[in-house]
Amino acid sequence: MPTEKEILEVLKEVKDPELNRSLVDLNMIRDVKVEGDKVKVTVALTIAGCPMKKRIAEDVRQAVLKVPGVKEVEVELTTMTPEEREKVFGKKSVSEKKALKDVRHIIAVASGKGGVGKTTVAVNLAVALSKKGQKVGILDADIYGPNVHILMGLEGERPFSRDQKLVPPERWGIKVMSFGFLAPEGQPIIWRGPLVHRALSELAEVVDWGVLDYLVIDLPPGTGDAPLTVAQVFPLRGAIIVTTPQKLATADVLRSIHMFNELGVRIMGIVENMAYLKTVGPDGKEQIIPVFGEDGGEKLARDLRIPFLGKIPLDPNLSKSGDVGRPAALDPESETGKVFAELAEKVIEKSLEFERLGSCGLKRG
Ligand SMILES: Nc1ncnc2c1ncn2[C@@H]1O[C@H](COP(=O)(O)OP(=O)(O)O)[C@@H](O)[C@H]1O
Ligand SMILES: [Mg+2]
Repeated sequence: MPTEKEILEVLKEVKDPELNRSLVDLNMIRDVKVEGDKVKVTVALTIAGCPMKKRIAEDVRQAVLKVPGVKEVEVELTTMTPEEREKVFGKKSVSEKKALKDVRHIIAVASGKGGVGKTTVAVNLAVALSKKGQKVGILDADIYGPNVHILMGLEGERPFSRDQKLVPPERWGIKVMSFGFLAPEGQPIIWRGPLVHRALSELAEVVDWGVLDYLVIDLPPGTGDAPLTVAQVFPLRGAIIVTTPQKLATADVLRSIHMFNELGVRIMGIVENMAYLKTVGPDGKEQIIPVFGEDGGEKLARDLRIPFLGKIPLDPNLSKSGDVGRPAALDPESETGKVFAELAEKVIEKSLEFERLGSCGLKRG
């Protein structure tokens, strides 16, 4: 007769398809009963109506059937209590604490390294989403080099406080919150590990965003303490990864993707910035020059089997508009404006898709 121990042993190999961790490690196996050649396993899902439940039940059944002597397997599904879930996933996410309850989609814009145009993409994406009639906020979580407020033409502004909340300044209908507002002018804040965590967690709680369709978060580059904290503290709908076509960037991008996978945050896709330069050649015809190499981001997306969200051209208007605090995407008829409108379209599509999929053990409940 098969033993309970044998059954648990094979169940160690069964993983939650989204979290990619063993059901046993996730404390999802509640009960194993063996009666002769019949086995009954009770599995506690992290969340009711988990879209993966059929697959999990089937994986469990197949695994247990492999144990010698087992003829019949019954799988019963239950749901974890909020306390149990908290034990598995750590601290409650902010949405459960209500601070962000009226924000429908929170999207992180990340990059493996700095200087690839993450902020430029985040700001212009926020503007393009807003142009499509969405209610949008943007949070500059790049504590090391906050500049979203400058790109949004809000340098020197300050949020004001109301009912112990910070009310973000608005520009072009977009609510803006940045560490740049809080830092003394011209002085970089030197952050140490635990402070980073505290500051970002507090920011998640204290900003009064009101009702938003989209909150775009400009993450600090890389996979250090700060981006990790943001991804843990905010219930992200998904992450967008910005890269340039240079080969150099790929290892860093991989690390970012890995970080999000570990945290159970879905990747919306890769955006390739500074992908090409459009000019007029000596013959008067339009010329497209791949300044930093060709299709790096697209190839990377293909290799990693994640969506490719598009290419942003190298456009002097983009850097200039950053300097004067007027994002290029405000002009939807310009070449670059059109590119960002298309990106916004794809982000909306992905957000709705991910919303339908639900969290299933991912952070967003
Ligand atoms: N597509 C682009 N075309 C022209 N300049 C760009 C483009 N993307 C970014 N830049 C410029 O490159 C610099 C770095 O961009 P930024 O968005 O601040 O990068 P990051 O946030 O990744 O550090 C800025 O001066 C910005 O204006
Ligand atoms: Mg930046």
